[in-house]
Amino acid sequence: KRSEFGIIGMGVMGRSLAKNILRHGFSLSAYNRYTEAEKEVIPSLLSELQNEDIQGFTNLEAFVESLVTPRKILLMIPAGSPVDAVLEELTPLLSQGDIIMDGGNSHYKDTQRREKLAKDQKFHYLGIGISGGEEGALLGPSMMVGGDSLAYNIVKVLLETISAKDFNNKPCISLLGANGGGHFIKTIHNGIEYGEMQLLAEVYALLKPSLSNDEIAELFIDWNTGETGSFLLETTIAILQKKENKESLLDKIWDVASSKGTGTWSSIAALEQGFPATILTAAVMERAVSNTKELRTTLSERLDYESFLATIDTEKLKEAYQFARLLNHQQGLQLIETTSNSEGWDVDLSEVVRVWTNGCILKSELLKTIHPIMGNHSILLEDTAILKKLKHSESAVVDILVWGMQQRNALPCLSASLQYWYGIITAFSSANLIQAQRDAFGAHTYKRIDAPKDQSFTTNWKTNG
Ligand code: 6PG
Repeated sequence: KRSEFGIIGMGVMGRSLAKNILRHGFSLSAYNRYTEAEKEVIPSLLSELQNEDIQGFTNLEAFVESLVTPRKILLMIPAGSPVDAVLEELTPLLSQGDIIMDGGNSHYKDTQRREKLAKDQKFHYLGIGISGGEEGALLGPSMMVGGDSLAYNIVKVLLETISAKDFNNKPCISLLGANGGGHFIKTIHNGIEYGEMQLLAEVYALLKPSLSNDEIAELFIDWNTGETGSFLLETTIAILQKKENKESLLDKIWDVASSKGTGTWSSIAALEQGFPATILTAAVMERAVSNTKELRTTLSERLDYESFLATIDTEKLKEAYQFARLLNHQQGLQLIETTSNSEGWDVDLSEVVRVWTNGCILKSELLKTIHPIMGNHSILLEDTAILKKLKHSESAVVDILVWGMQQRNALPCLSASLQYWYGIITAFSSANLIQAQRDAFGAHTYKRIDAPKDQSFTTNWKTNG
């Protein structure tokens, strides 16, 4: 009996997706490589599941043979060279028309390269961003697909069945762009995720001097009931409440943040596009600051500042938090739009937002609010209600920043959101001086407000009159 679907890689995500697929009644072949460290993976999976619909393999050829054609094979392996290594081994075993799907956090340019190679060999290649972690994979993830619609239509039913469902019970999966588009959107999803996580960390830092972790959790429980509610806030509440031998586990965690690359890729994409995704970039950089633990410790001892103990206005803090989140989402979505235009993906932003409303790490009330707006506008800031809200919250952000900085809190994302706001609401900025400077030292030319836009000028700035 041949299986309808195959998964390569039975790590945490592969295993959870396998269980999800079987739960929905599909038949599955699971492959994991055989190494000393991983030799128990397949036997333990089979003995745990005790399910007739799954076949397990450590031999790639037998795995490929066990699948119905056209074969539908999902790679759930670490991004980077492991994907190329598996493809090199796998593709000689495939037949024309087979569909390879990469469900990892691959760089979209790698996906573009692999898609081209697969096409040359007459295979289909889908780059699928899968979000939701272990639980999402098991109960229904959010999936961002990139590739050709022919291949997508063949795997659509299965993927839609196992995915999360949105507010209208529609599957949180969509074909969002050809040629790497799905992986790019997943990357920016993660970039926004970095911003959202850092904003929560900044809020936590502001509350920490005056509230216990349990008290912060209480406040967040309240925030979670309304428009500030989100999966990440919920997760943070659980973290704040977690005890180990009656003591907070959070307090025992080393304050040095790791990362696996997607945040950095988002920032690089913003820089490459010349797009101001300042909030997610600030979040990436703040993880880098956290890595300077030794320097931080030394300087903090040498400077020996006194600590303050003041109570923050939590209503204002909530308003400032929501202000920054709105702009973080605005930046991420516009970065997708900008890249989609230059890559020719024609991404539908309202569909991106819909796919993110459930199953993924970004899932939130805010996304549900944004969704209908993105159906009517290409940019969030075109919406009058959003603009009004941002304008109204601006003073709360200033107050929180002043308060927080007087107490020497690093608030890079909150600050970046306000700086971005000031930047984009200024019709006449100081960039005229930048242009004059460029022309003064390098004759790089400038345009004049009193001359047609297609004319460039250069001036000898050393002489006057
Ligand atoms: C998701 C997550 C997932 C992963 C992050 C972690 O959408 O399910 O984003 O992909 O947990 O990539 O990223 P860092 O290790 O870089 O923080």
